[in-house]
Amino acid sequence: MPEFNDSLISLALRVAENAAIACKDLIGKGDKKAADGAATDTMRETLNNGDISGVVVIGEGEMDEAPMLYIGEKVGKGGAEIDIAVDPLEGTTPAAENGVGAMCVLAIAPRGELLNAPDMYMDKIAVGPGYAPNVVMLGASVQENVEALAKAKGVGSEHINVCVLKRERHKDIVAALREIGAKVSFITDGDVGGVLSVADPSTGVDMYIGSGGAPEGVLAAAALKAVGGQMQGRLMFELEGDAQRLRAGTLGIEDFDKIYTIDDMVKGDAIFAATGVTDGNLLNRVKVAANNALITESLVFESFTGTSRKIITTHKPY
Ligand code: FBP
Repeated sequence: MPEFNDSLISLALRVAENAAIACKDLIGKGDKKAADGAATDTMRETLNNGDISGVVVIGEGEMDEAPMLYIGEKVGKGGAEIDIAVDPLEGTTPAAENGVGAMCVLAIAPRGELLNAPDMYMDKIAVGPGYAPNVVMLGASVQENVEALAKAKGVGSEHINVCVLKRERHKDIVAALREIGAKVSFITDGDVGGVLSVADPSTGVDMYIGSGGAPEGVLAAAALKAVGGQMQGRLMFELEGDAQRLRAGTLGIEDFDKIYTIDDMVKGDAIFAATGVTDGNLLNRVKVAANNALITESLVFESFTGTSRKIITTHKPY
């Protein structure tokens, strides 16, 4: 296992910051691909300048479909043997439309310790730190989970605030939440940030429920691990056809019904970094100061010391 040291933390921060700066001028331009491309290109360049022997295990796609940061790509000049999960632009739609909560995200872990999640949906449930293990569970109903969390917090169910990605497929979850009288905080995109909002008291979010990308699930798990939150995820295989199961099999997944805990998704320690691209409830966008210096807002979480930091950086004027 490589030494997890301050230089890896600064590299992760720099990678996220540079990616956010790179797509700054593409925000609100209606071109998701261009914004994603700029973030990806710069993330890759910054990783390649790092003293690491990195392998991308969650990336922009398979080698034949993604020229940069594809799964299996080796990055870095040589050094710590690490696996890297990237989402260069998490929330391509809010980035293109100047919407809420787009950010550049990555996680770093010792080789072989991140779940190599296939590009498919994952059912997710998450709560912040401070609760008994399994206070909420994917196997329980929405009502049971809200009631269990309310009991643990010593409040009524009507005080529980649940973040949900606004999608038609979540209508039953929302109906169940309405039925119990819980609060719903919708997000339009970006469920890494949605899951992470459970760990930031300033958001007022108590729980995250719903399905989103499996790669995003692993990234969120890496962050929650550092703050002691809880999360469970289950891959959502489509009923028809075997392609997803075959693909998952090649990534080492054998039990297709498994409920993954944070420790299943992130076996050991991890570093998580994210920099804001558009304003959201966790991070703000890249700002330009009067002297043309750029100001970025980032989160850096590390599980080995259980540290979470919000870092505001001023970058040399351009
Ligand atoms: P992109 O940045 O790839 O557009 O993903 C944004 C996102 O909202 C993720 O955060 C989430 O996991 C996923 O899309 C949900 O997928 P869908 O939009 O199909 O519901």
